[in-house]
Amino acid sequence: STKKLWGGRFQAQAEAWVDEFGASISFDQLMADEDIEGSLAHVKMLKKTKILSEVDSNKIIAGLEELQQELHDGKLEFTVENEDIHMNIESILTEKIGPVAGKLHTGRSRNDQVATDFHLYVKNRLPKIIEEIKTIQKTLVTLAEDNVETIMPGYTHLQHAQPISYGHYLMAYYAMLKRDVERFEFNMKHTDILPLGAAALAGTTFPIDREFTAQELGFGDIYTNSLDAVSDRDFVLEFLSNASILMMHLSRFCEEISMWVSYEFNYLELSDQYTTGSSIMPQKKNPDMAELIRGKSGRVYGHLMGLLSTMKSLPLAYNKDLQEDKEGTFDTVKTLLPALRVFNGMISTIKVHKERMYHATENDFSNATELADYLATKGIPFREAHGIVGQLVLKGIETHHNLQDITMKEFKQISPLIEDDVYNMLKPEVAVERRNSLGGTGFKQVQMQIEQAKVDLAK
Ligand code: ARG
Repeated sequence: STKKLWGGRFQAQAEAWVDEFGASISFDQLMADEDIEGSLAHVKMLKKTKILSEVDSNKIIAGLEELQQELHDGKLEFTVENEDIHMNIESILTEKIGPVAGKLHTGRSRNDQVATDFHLYVKNRLPKIIEEIKTIQKTLVTLAEDNVETIMPGYTHLQHAQPISYGHYLMAYYAMLKRDVERFEFNMKHTDILPLGAAALAGTTFPIDREFTAQELGFGDIYTNSLDAVSDRDFVLEFLSNASILMMHLSRFCEEISMWVSYEFNYLELSDQYTTGSSIMPQKKNPDMAELIRGKSGRVYGHLMGLLSTMKSLPLAYNKDLQEDKEGTFDTVKTLLPALRVFNGMISTIKVHKERMYHATENDFSNATELADYLATKGIPFREAHGIVGQLVLKGIETHHNLQDITMKEFKQISPLIEDDVYNMLKPEVAVERRNSLGGTGFKQVQMQIEQAKVDLAK
C-alpha cells in the first residue's frame, strides 16, 4: 500500500486487511459534505488570522470548493488506503492543488475535525426529523377531529376499563410526539457546539480564532474545554435516546393497529397501500408496515445500547473506539425518516369501524364505574357502591345480562333513591361525555386538546 499521510515515523506497513479493519471510509463518506464544509471554515479562519498567507489560503479554498462541486456531481472516489473521509479529502485536495494542501491541517487534528463533522451531521438532520414528527402530529389532530365522539372501550391490563373517545386516544399519541419534538429540540442545544480548535486534545499554539470558525459554520456555541470537545458524544447519545423513545411511541401505536385490524377486534382497517398479502393464503391482508415499524424500534434501541457501551470506561481524550459512534447513528437516521413517513401514510389512510368500536362498549361492563358513581351521588359511600355493583356484575355474567338490562324493580331493591335517569347514565356515550374533568375523555375536553394542539402546531 501507499505511504500514509502520517507515515513519517513508520518503517513497516500494515497489510491491506489490517488497514481495512481500521478504516472508516466505507461509512464516514456520508459526512463528506460536512468534512469539506468544516475544512472551508477552518482555512478561512487561518487566512483571517494570517496563520496562512492569502495566496496559500485562496488556493486551498478554491480547491475545496472544486472538490465540493465534484462531490455533488458524484465524481469523488475514495480509497481504503486513505482510511477515513478526512484523509481522503486531504489526499484528493493534494492531487488537485499540490503540496500547499498540506497547510490546511495547521492547528487542527482529525480528532476535532471528526467531532466537528459529526456535530454538523446531527445538526443538519435534527430539523428534518422534527418536521416529520410534526407532520404526524397534524395527521393525528385531523383524525382526532373526526373522532371526538367515536366511542371505544378504554383498556387497562388489556381489559375493558371505561369507554373513551377514540379522538382522546389519538390525542394521547399527539402528546407523546409533542414531548419527542421537545426532546429533539433540546438535543440541538448540545449539538450546536463547535469542537474545532480543540486540536488533538489540548488546543494549539497557533493564534486561531474559534469564534470566527463558529460563525462560519453557524454554531451557536463553542466547547470551552478541549478535552471535552474531542471526546464528548453526549449529543449523539441524546439523539439515539430521543430516537429510541420516539420509536417506542410509534411501536406502541403499531402494536395497537396490529391488534385492532385483527378479526377479533376489527376496530380499524388499513389501506391496501400499507398492507401486504400472503404468498400462500389468498385471503390475507397483513399489517406489515405496522409490524416493521414496531420491529425496527429494536435496532434503534440497539444502537443506543451500542454507543453507551462503547463510551463506558473510555479514558480521555480521543480513542479510536470513538470511530464506532457513526454506523449506528447513520442507521438510526436511515431508519427513522422512512419509518416516520410510512407511519404517517399508514395512519392517514386508516378506516375506523366506528359502529364496531361502539358495539364493543355496549356489551360489556365498562359502565360499571358509572353505576357505582351514580350510587355514590345518591349518598351510598363509594366503597359500598363498588361492592354492590361488583355483585351485580357477577350476577350479570352468570345470567348473560348487562347492567343496563337490570329492571327498575331490581334497582329499587338496591336503593329506593335510584331513578329512571340511571339508564341514560349507563350509555357509553354519556359515560364518555360526562368525564369532563380537565384532561379527561369528555368530548369538551378532547375538543380543547385539539384546539390547543392547533395553536401549538401553528407556532
Ligand atoms: N476515522 C476517525 C474516527 O472516525 C477519525 C479520527 C481519527 N483520529 C485519530 N487520531 N486516529 O473517529
